[in-house]
Amino acid sequence: MGVDIRRIGVLTSGGDAPGMNAAIRSVVRTAVYKGLEVRGIMRGYEGLIAGEIFELSSRSVSNILGRGGTILKTARSREFLTEAGQMKAVKVIRDNGIDALVIIGGNGSLQGAMALERVGDVRTIGVPGTIDNDLGGTDYTIGCNTSVDTVLDAIDKIRDTVTSMERVYVVEVMGREEPYIAVRAGLAGGTEEVLYPGNTMDLKTVASDIKKAKTKGKRSWIIIVAEGYGSAVAISREIESLTGYEVRPVTLGHIQRGGSPTAPDRILASVMGAYAVESIVSGKTGKMVAIKGHGLDLVDYKEACFEREKDKKLNSDLYSTTKLLAS
Ligand code: F6P
Repeated sequence: MGVDIRRIGVLTSGGDAPGMNAAIRSVVRTAVYKGLEVRGIMRGYEGLIAGEIFELSSRSVSNILGRGGTILKTARSREFLTEAGQMKAVKVIRDNGIDALVIIGGNGSLQGAMALERVGDVRTIGVPGTIDNDLGGTDYTIGCNTSVDTVLDAIDKIRDTVTSMERVYVVEVMGREEPYIAVRAGLAGGTEEVLYPGNTMDLKTVASDIKKAKTKGKRSWIIIVAEGYGSAVAISREIESLTGYEVRPVTLGHIQRGGSPTAPDRILASVMGAYAVESIVSGKTGKMVAIKGHGLDLVDYKEACFEREKDKKLNSDLYSTTKLLAS
């Protein structure tokens, strides 16, 4: 059953992810095609509270499909964490005649959507945009594919110096809860070790593996560490003291969030953005767009935000293959 929706808003929130622009483009063009007005909200919930809102047309989103970052900018808003901030946001939404909101972001952003619904009965649809792929109910989030490719590119380059100088490198990648980037880039980059929360591998064993391998002629070693496990600097120091070898830390940091989105991320963002608008038009809100297998679906925010443990078995299988192939 359809509802009377004339104007929608769109915002990006939390850490930017490659493909957010492709999602914005898809939301805007689908909405305009369906006869809706669109308002862009700048700087996520921070800009919403401040009323930084402007009209978006199909032409406003020309040539952004392949651009990293987000033209709407993004923020992590402290004020929006308070009920007073949330009430201000609800008032701005009402004052601007926005009937429903598309929220593109990760865990915190979707919890923000839940808050808007709770305090102001605001209609929202979430679109998962985060490099971490740490949301429940969806196989992928927009940006995670590009991020793995970026890390892989860095690993390939680091491999050149690792091999030439016969050293041990510890490369820290993003991912506090979910080791998606670490485990995929580890396998694709042929690394010797991947340390991530949930992996029981300890540094003493890593150090002894490195020593054993050296006696057998293997002289270069790359360890990927997910940030949720520990820092590259601290782990390098410890392995250095356990082995006596020279160990170099590399923290890839925010390069993992930048760059032009890969084809899979552009495609995911495009279909998810359109699906978000179609859901709003058909009266289905209060949920996040998800991809499962080959189909799009809507899942509850609660599942997305709080049941976000991904496939542990798959991670552990990928890890085992990485170890086997590095032997
Ligand atoms: O959620 C995306 C992410 O890049 C995480 O992987 C990382 O832990 C965090 O954001 C870093 O946040 P900030 O850019 O605010 O330092």
